[in-house]
Amino acid sequence: MSSLPKSDDLIFFVNGRKVIEKAANPEVNLLFYLRKNLHLTGTKYGCGGGGCGACTVMVSRFNPKTNKIRHYPATACLVPICSLHGAAVTTVEGVGSIKTRIHPVQERLAKCHGTQCGFCSPGMVMSIYTLLRNHPEPTPEQITEAIGGNLCRCTGYRTIVESGKTFCGASTVCQMKGSGKCCMDQEERSFENNQEKICTKLYNEDEFQPLDPTQEPIFPPELIRMAEAPNKRRLTFQGERTTWITPVTLDDALELKASFPEAPLIMGNTAEGPSMKFRDAFHPVLISPLGLPELHFVNTTDDGVTIGAGYSLAQLNDVLLSIVSDQPKEKTKTYRALLKHLRTLAGAQIRNMATLGGHVVSRPYFSDLNPILAAGNATINLTSKEGERQIPLNGPYLERLPEADLKSEEIVLSVSIPYSTQWHFVSGLRQAQRQENAFAIVNAGMSVKFEDGTNIIKELKMFYGSVGTTTVSASQTCKQLIGRPWDDHMLSDACRLVLDEIYIPPGAEGGMVAYRRALIISLLFKFYLKVRRGLKKMDPEKFPDIPEEFMSVLEDFPIETPQGLEMFQCVDPNQSPQDPIGRPIMHQSALKHATGEAVYVDDMPPFSQELFLAVVTSTRAHAKIISIDSSEALTLPGVVDVITAEDVPGDNNHQGEILYAQDEVICVGQIVCTVAADTYAHAREAAKKVKITYEDIEPRIITIEQALEHNSFLSAEKKIEKGDVDQAFKNVDQIIEGEVHVEGQEHFYMETQTVLAVPKVEDKEMVLYLGTQFPTRVQEFVAAALNIPRNRIACHMRRAGGAFGGKVTKPSLLGAISAVAAYKTGRPIRFILERRDDILITAGRHPLLGKYKVGFMNNGVIKAADVEYYTNGGCTPDESELVVEFIVLKSETAYNIPNFRCRGRPCKTNLPSNTAFRGFGFPQVSVVAETYITAVASECNLPPEEVKEINMYKRINKTAYKQTFNPEPLRRCWKECLEKSSFHARKLAAEEFNKRNYWKKRGLAVVPMKYSAGVPMAYYLQAAALVHIYLDGTVLVTHGGCELGQGLNTKMIQVASRELNIPESYIHLSETSTIVVPNASFTAGSMGADINGKAVQNACQILMTRLRPIIKKNPNGKWEDWITKAFQESISLSTTGYFKGYQTHMDWKKEEGEPFPYYIYGASCSEVEVDCLTGAHKLLRTDIFVDAAFSINPALDIGQIEGAFIQGMGLYTIEELKYSPEGVLYSRGPDEYKIPTVTEIPEEFYVTLLRSQNPIAIYSSKGLGEAGMFLGSSVLFAIKDAVTAARRERGLTKTFTLNSPATPELIRMTCVDQFTDMIPKDDPSTFTPWSIHVS
Ligand SMILES: Cc1cc2nc3c(=O)[nH]c(=O)nc-3n(C[C@H](O)[C@H](O)[C@H](O)COP(=O)(O)OP(=O)(O)OC[C@H]3O[C@@H](n4cnc5c(N)ncnc54)[C@H](O)[C@@H]3O)c2cc1C
Ligand code: FES
Ligand code: FES
Repeated sequence: MSSLPKSDDLIFFVNGRKVIEKAANPEVNLLFYLRKNLHLTGTKYGCGGGGCGACTVMVSRFNPKTNKIRHYPATACLVPICSLHGAAVTTVEGVGSIKTRIHPVQERLAKCHGTQCGFCSPGMVMSIYTLLRNHPEPTPEQITEAIGGNLCRCTGYRTIVESGKTFCGASTVCQMKGSGKCCMDQEERSFENNQEKICTKLYNEDEFQPLDPTQEPIFPPELIRMAEAPNKRRLTFQGERTTWITPVTLDDALELKASFPEAPLIMGNTAEGPSMKFRDAFHPVLISPLGLPELHFVNTTDDGVTIGAGYSLAQLNDVLLSIVSDQPKEKTKTYRALLKHLRTLAGAQIRNMATLGGHVVSRPYFSDLNPILAAGNATINLTSKEGERQIPLNGPYLERLPEADLKSEEIVLSVSIPYSTQWHFVSGLRQAQRQENAFAIVNAGMSVKFEDGTNIIKELKMFYGSVGTTTVSASQTCKQLIGRPWDDHMLSDACRLVLDEIYIPPGAEGGMVAYRRALIISLLFKFYLKVRRGLKKMDPEKFPDIPEEFMSVLEDFPIETPQGLEMFQCVDPNQSPQDPIGRPIMHQSALKHATGEAVYVDDMPPFSQELFLAVVTSTRAHAKIISIDSSEALTLPGVVDVITAEDVPGDNNHQGEILYAQDEVICVGQIVCTVAADTYAHAREAAKKVKITYEDIEPRIITIEQALEHNSFLSAEKKIEKGDVDQAFKNVDQIIEGEVHVEGQEHFYMETQTVLAVPKVEDKEMVLYLGTQFPTRVQEFVAAALNIPRNRIACHMRRAGGAFGGKVTKPSLLGAISAVAAYKTGRPIRFILERRDDILITAGRHPLLGKYKVGFMNNGVIKAADVEYYTNGGCTPDESELVVEFIVLKSETAYNIPNFRCRGRPCKTNLPSNTAFRGFGFPQVSVVAETYITAVASECNLPPEEVKEINMYKRINKTAYKQTFNPEPLRRCWKECLEKSSFHARKLAAEEFNKRNYWKKRGLAVVPMKYSAGVPMAYYLQAAALVHIYLDGTVLVTHGGCELGQGLNTKMIQVASRELNIPESYIHLSETSTIVVPNASFTAGSMGADINGKAVQNACQILMTRLRPIIKKNPNGKWEDWITKAFQESISLSTTGYFKGYQTHMDWKKEEGEPFPYYIYGASCSEVEVDCLTGAHKLLRTDIFVDAAFSINPALDIGQIEGAFIQGMGLYTIEELKYSPEGVLYSRGPDEYKIPTVTEIPEEFYVTLLRSQNPIAIYSSKGLGEAGMFLGSSVLFAIKDAVTAARRERGLTKTFTLNSPATPELIRMTCVDQFTDMIPKDDPSTFTPWSIHVS
C-alpha cells in the first residue's frame, strides 16, 4: 500500500454548500458525517442498516453523457462519504427551515398531523420531497411507493400518506371510495338521532402554500463542470484502516481489480455496507467504479435487453417498464416477473442505491431477482484485463460453484435478459412477513417451455430463495419432468420430487421449517395454475381452464393507497374562536419535526471532553462470570476506561434492577461492562475486545413452560373472583377448556435510548439529558448508584422519539450506567444505544400464556369462567407485578360473566426483563377473552358477534372487582360500529366471496372494548405544574409530564390558553425537568393530559384569581396591561398548580376496589382477505368507534387511536420476536423484526370519536393513548374468521385456536390442505429447533 498516493480532496455539496474534506475516511458514512462533522442533525439514526428510512437524504448526480441530473432518495447510513465525490446531497435542512422558509412538503406533513414524535419526519419529508423533484404532480400510488422504505412507529401512516396526496391531482383526493360522494364536499355531517354536529376536517388545505418546482435549488454548476472535465484522474482516499480508490476509466478499474483482487467493488454499498457494519467484514482496499459510464447503458436487440451493471434497481425498473409497454406481452414475461418483485424489494431508497451488478454478484440467499433472472436464462457479461466473456446466470452460478463463478479480477459489465417466447412462461413468486421492504421467507423464479402448440414440457427451471444459504435450483426435479404433460399428475410428482430435492433440515437457520417446506410446493402450485391459465389463453380449444374458484389466487394482493375518513365532534359554534379546546390543533412541534429542527438528545452539540460509551453484554442466559479481561481493550486508540460493577460507588442493584452484572449473568444481553472512548467507533471496537469467560449455571429458564416447571416467579399470585365459579360449572350445558399464547412485542420507538450525563465540578452534581417517560425514576436510580442525594441530580427531558412504555423504567438503568461512567472518568458521557443493542437490552411487552375453562349454555350465555394467566417477566422485577395486576383486573374486558375467577402470576426467566408497553397487559389478556368467546360461539354454532353481544355488559353494573360503571357508551360504540360498517351486509358478501373462491378467503370480526384508564395507586396520579407570566404577557408553562409524541404539550398549551383566555401564541412550553417540577409521576397509562392538564389548569386558575380584581377594574384593557398592572401592584405572576390525583385504590385481599378513574369504550370492525396458499393477508377495511367523551384535540386523539391500532395490528399479525432455545434474541433490527409499514394499513380506514360525559376528567375528556392497541385485534379475529372458512371447506369443523401473532406462517399452516399434508413431520426428539416461542 506504500505505493498509493496520499489522500485526494473529497468534494461534494451539501444543501448547496461546497464541502471539501481533506481527510476523507472511507469507513465513515454520510449519516455520521452530516450529524457529527457538519452538525446537520435533522437526518436521524434509526437502525444504521438501511432498514428504517430515518436517515433519508436526496442525492443528485449529473450525467455528462445524457446531460441529465438524477435525483434519488438514499439512506445516509449506507452511503460512504467517499462515494459522494461530485454529488450534491440535500438534507432536510436544505429543504426548508422555520428560520427561513418552510417547504410545502414540510408544511403539509405538519398540518395534516403526519408527525407525532417527529423522529421519522425528516426521513418522510425527504422521501416525498425527492419524489416531487422528479414528479411534481405524483399519483397517490407514487406517494405510497415513495414512503414504503420509511418506518413510522407513531402515526399509523394514514396522515403521512394524506399529506403526500395533497400534491396529487385534484381528482385523486377523494376519501370516500365507492360512496359516490366525495367527503371533501362535506363540511359537516350529523349523526342520526343525535344533535351533535360531526366534523370531518382535521386541517384546512386552503392554508397550504402551493408547490412551485421552479423554487427548488439548482444543481451546483461547479459539479457539472467537474463531471464534464476532460482530464479526470483516479481518486484515492486514505483512512485510518482503509483505502478507497475511485478509478477513472474501466481500464483503470480492471487494473485495480487485478492489483487488489480481494477488494470489493463498492457500488450501492447495500450488501457490503451492512456486512462491514454488522458482520465485522473488513477490507483494507475498496474500489468504487460506480460512476464509470461503461457500466451505465441499455442495449436492446432482437433477443432481449442488456443492462449495465451500474444501473440501480430503480433504473432497472424504469428500463423494464418502458420495454414492457413497447413490446408484445409474450416477449416480456421475464421482465414483468422482475417488475413485480422490484415493486416490493426493500424500499425506494435501497432500490435507488443498490445496483444490478451488486445484486447479481452479492447473490443474497433471499434475492428476489436472481431466481427470476436464472429462470429467464439471463447471462452475465464480464470483463477483466484478460478480455471479455459471458457466463450464464444459472443454478451453479447462484450456488457459487467455483467453476461457474466470476474470477476475483473480473468485473460485471452488464446483464443480458432475453425475451420470453410464445410457448414459454416465466413467473416470480414470493412470500414475506410484510408485503414490502422485507426479505422473502421463500421466493421463487420459475419458467417452463413447451413443445410448440402442446403442453409437453421441453424445458423447466425452478429456483428457490431463502431455503438455504444460496438461491437453490431444483434442477433434478426439472430434469425428471421433461416430456411430461402439464397436468395434475405432473404437479403431484413435481411436489414430491421438489420436496425431496430441496430439503430444509428441521433445525435449519431461519426456522419456520414446515412453513418454508409448504411454501416450496404452494408456490409451485401457484405457478402451475398460472401456466395452465396461460395455456388456456394460448389455445382455448385444446387446454382446459383452471377451476373458476381458483382464479383469484393467481394474483398477489395489490398495494393500494389507503383511504380514510375521520369523524369527530365539531366545537360549539358559540365557543370563542380564540379558545382552542376541542379543536384539531397541530402538534406544537410539528413544524420543527418536519424541518429537522426539533432537538433530540443526540442532536445536542458535543460537550467539551465528551466520551462515548459502548456496551459489552452477556452472551449467556445464566452463567457465573469467571473473569472479565479488558486489558486489550484498554490499549486501543482513544479508549479511556472500562467500567464494571466494581466502579459503582452506590447501589449496583437498586430495587432488584442490576446496572452491571456482578459475579453472574442472568440473561443474554445483560450489561457486563461499558467502554468509554473518545469516539463511538473506538468505544465499539474496544468493546469487542473485552474477553469474558463464563461457566453456565443450571437451570436456564427461557419459556413460561420451563418457569412453571421450576416454580420460578417474580411475585405472588394475584386473584379476582366473583360469584360461585365451581358451583356454576355444575349447571351449564357445555364446558370448554383451552390455552392461548400471545407473544411479546418490541417497542421499536424510532429514537433508540439515548443519555447524556454531564458531571459538574461542584458538589457532586450531575446533569442528565434523556428521552424518558419518568425523569423522577432516573433521578432516583442515579442518586442510588452514585450514593449522593437526589437534590444533586438534575434530569432534563424535552422530547422522546417515541416511547410506548419502553422509556418508563429502562432509562433509569441506562441513566445510572452513564452517570457512573461520567463519575468515574470525570467527563461528560454520551450513551446512544445502537438499534441492535436497544432491542436486545431493553426488552418489551410481556409474552402471555392464558389458560381458560368456560361454562356456557347452548344459547351462548356464559355462566362461568376460570382463567389463569402467566407472563414471561424476564430476569428482574421491573414492572412485571404491576402488569399482572392489570391483566387480572382487566381480564373480564367488555363481558359480564356472573361467575368469574381470574388468577395471574409473572414468571421469572433468563430473558431480558420485560417492561411496560402501551396497554400494559390489556392487549394480551383481551385476546384470550375474545378467543374463548369465539370458541363458545363456535361450539354453539352461533356467530361470534352474537355471543359477544349476549355476554356484553349492558347497563350500570359492577366489575368483577366491584367498581360501578355505566357501559352505555360501550353499547353505543358497538351498535354504531356494526351499523356504520355495514357489518352484516359485508359479512354476507364475504360468505358469498368465500363460496366463489377456494384459495382466498375473506373474514370479518368486530371486537368490543372496555379499557380502564389510569392506575390503582392514587399517588401515581398526582401532578404538578409551574406557570410563569412574564412582563411582556408571555407565559411559560412547565409540568411534570413528558412529551413523547402524543401531543401532551400541545394539549397543555390549549388548557393554559383557555384558562388564561389568551391566544396559544402567548404560551411557551420548553422542557420537563426534575429541578422545576419535583417527584413527578411517569407519563403513561393514558393519564398524561388528564393529570398534568388538571395541574396546569389549577395554576392558571390561581393566577386568574389574582388577576381578576385588576381585570375588573379595567375590563376593556389588554392582557399585557393587566400583567403590567399586576406587577406594579406586587402581585405574584408565578405559581405552581397541583392535582392530587384521582382517588383510585385496590384491596387485593378483599379482591375489590376502585382501581381506575374511568373507562374508555370502543369497538372496531376489520375485514381481511387471506391467501390460503401463502398465508398472506390483506386488510381491506377497518372501522373504529371510540368513546372520547369530549376530545380536547381531535387531531391528536385520532392520531393516538390510529397509531395504537396499527401498533396493535403489528402485535397481532407480523411482529415476531425470535429466540434461540438458549435465550438468544435473533430479531434485533428492522431486517428481522417487522413493524407495519404503509403497505399494511387498511385500504379503507374510518375512525369516529363518539361523544359522552366524563365529568371527573379535565373538560370531560378521556385519555386515549393506549386504548386503540387492543382494537388491532379485530384484524387477528378477522383472519381467524377467514381461516375458519377455509378449514370448514376442507372438512375441518372443530374449534381451533389462533395464537398471536397470526403471522403468514401461522395462517398458512392453519389452512391445512393437500400441500401441508405432504410436508414430512420431523420427530422433535431428533433435532434442536432454531427458534422457540417463549409465551
Ligand atoms: C435494507 C435492505 C433491504 C433489502 N431488501 C431486499 C429484498 O427485499 N430483496 C432482495 O432481493 N434484496 C434486498 N436487499 C439486498 C439488495 O438487493 C442488495 O444488497 C443489492 O442488490 C446489492 O447491490 P449493491 O450495488 O448495493 O452492492 P454492493 O454492496 O455495492 O456490492 C456487493 C458485492 O458485489 C460486488 N460487485 C458489485 N458490483 C460489481 C460488478 N459490477 N462487478 C463485480 N462485482 C461487483 C462487490 O464486489 C461486492 O462484493 C436489501 C438490502 C438492504 C440493505
Ligand atoms: S438509520 Fe439509515 S435506514 Fe435506518
Ligand atoms: S412520528 Fe413517526 S416515528 Fe414518531
